[in-house]
Amino acid sequence: MKKTDIITTALASFALLSMTACSTTPTDMTKANIIPKPVSVTATGETFTLTPNSDIYVQEGMDEMLNIGQYLADKLNPSTGLEMKVISDGRKPGKGDILLELSSGDSLLGDEGYEMVVTGKLLKITANKPAGLFYGVQTVRQLLPAKVELTTLQEGPWEIPTGTIRDYPVYSYRGAMRDVARHFFGPDDIKTFIDQMAAFKMNALHLHLSDDQGWRIEIKSWPNLALHGGSTEVGGGEGGYYTQEQYSDIVKYAQDRYIIIIPEIDMPGHTNAALSSYPELNIGGKATELYTGIKVGFSTLDTKSEVTYKFVDDVFRELAALTPGPYLHIGGDESHVTKLEDYIPFINRVQDIVTAHGKQVIGWDEIALATLKPDVIVQYWARADNAIKGVNQGAKVLMSPSKYAYIDMKYDSTSIYGLNWAGFIEVDHGYNWDPASLVPEIKRDNIIGIEAPLWAETVSNREEAEYLLFPRLLGYAEIGWTPAEQRSWDEYKLRLAAHGERMEAMGIKFYRSSKVEWAGQK
Ligand code: ACM
Repeated sequence: MKKTDIITTALASFALLSMTACSTTPTDMTKANIIPKPVSVTATGETFTLTPNSDIYVQEGMDEMLNIGQYLADKLNPSTGLEMKVISDGRKPGKGDILLELSSGDSLLGDEGYEMVVTGKLLKITANKPAGLFYGVQTVRQLLPAKVELTTLQEGPWEIPTGTIRDYPVYSYRGAMRDVARHFFGPDDIKTFIDQMAAFKMNALHLHLSDDQGWRIEIKSWPNLALHGGSTEVGGGEGGYYTQEQYSDIVKYAQDRYIIIIPEIDMPGHTNAALSSYPELNIGGKATELYTGIKVGFSTLDTKSEVTYKFVDDVFRELAALTPGPYLHIGGDESHVTKLEDYIPFINRVQDIVTAHGKQVIGWDEIALATLKPDVIVQYWARADNAIKGVNQGAKVLMSPSKYAYIDMKYDSTSIYGLNWAGFIEVDHGYNWDPASLVPEIKRDNIIGIEAPLWAETVSNREEAEYLLFPRLLGYAEIGWTPAEQRSWDEYKLRLAAHGERMEAMGIKFYRSSKVEWAGQK
């Protein structure tokens, strides 16, 4: 629709709007339902309105700014029909425009924070780095009515309450994990998820690319890993894998949304897909059968064979070349059939291999049984004593305690997907914890951030995955962003309730937990 048609439509519906607008005009910015909750919001009691004349202004000569401006325009234009353009030729913004500006000197905002000043005339976001502007843009989306997320033309008005938001995250790593090994999820599903993460200011997506049931990334020097090892999944479906080209495309898509991809190759256990693809990786030299069940802890690489280290080196060399982010994840969990005296030297050597390829190691908490190299990150999932061993060796901890953060756990006994070996995780339980006080020996300064892993034994498509991911993911996003002192379930559940409509407009098939009084409940 052209701008003139919009004006006509707006005029035609003026009578209707004038009846409803007064009660819905959002004049108090402190009442905005933003997730994650911003660090500070000060309201000034007026209204900023996007109009057919509104455009998005960015600084001249910076492609990255143009991209962020265009991202915002692409989010707002389909539903508002306002045809906002990105202006980067040095012209000054006027009434009703949005301005994105890099500045320096506001050190409190750090690399990811932003300040948003909204007056009756202008919506201005400033940040030290483009990532901060990108997060400010996510806040703009949430300040507008939920229907802005629809991709079909909606009626305005497109109003935002005036005031100032100053906002920056408490943790630098705010992540989720997708297990694409137990069931394969294709590039489109992962890109959709990346968009969903970005909307809640998450910045790290860990992909669990290999396990007993499947190998999901093309490795050119060991082609059978994907061709054979990727040919099935839990339940016997056809599985699949990412070509390196598809994988790089996902990495770029994530990078454009300020999300790093952390690829995991789990070892020495959880390796049946590799063991069935190459006999020489097995103790005894005989390939195993492909596996489509859900048991764990039965497979191991031959930790005493040099071929194994050639394999590890080749795989991590190729993955390092595909990974602009700093981390490679080596797994290391549940290697129940690897003797401890074999496991420790194996993990020590694999750390050296990853480091030689210029990357930082992340591993599940068992890796702290080995001698950790500097800069290693221990992902706490099961045993606090392991994570503490990591801290005592100087490692940082990534918090994924299974009893709180495993997003594949059922909500309650009636959940249609999920497991419950770590307990039920209702939406309140998943929200109501503080990474920095869960284990007394693991303090705020030891923690790099939080990650919610979605193991995929019980979910095989986007809708099933979303049932477990949402609404809990929003809570994990908030735990990673908002200081614990500013969070409470009683207040959060009201904001979450308002996000029901928003998630629906975003096309998210979320679980309507009875712990939340969803707005517009059907
Ligand atoms: C894990 O859940 N085995 C890390």
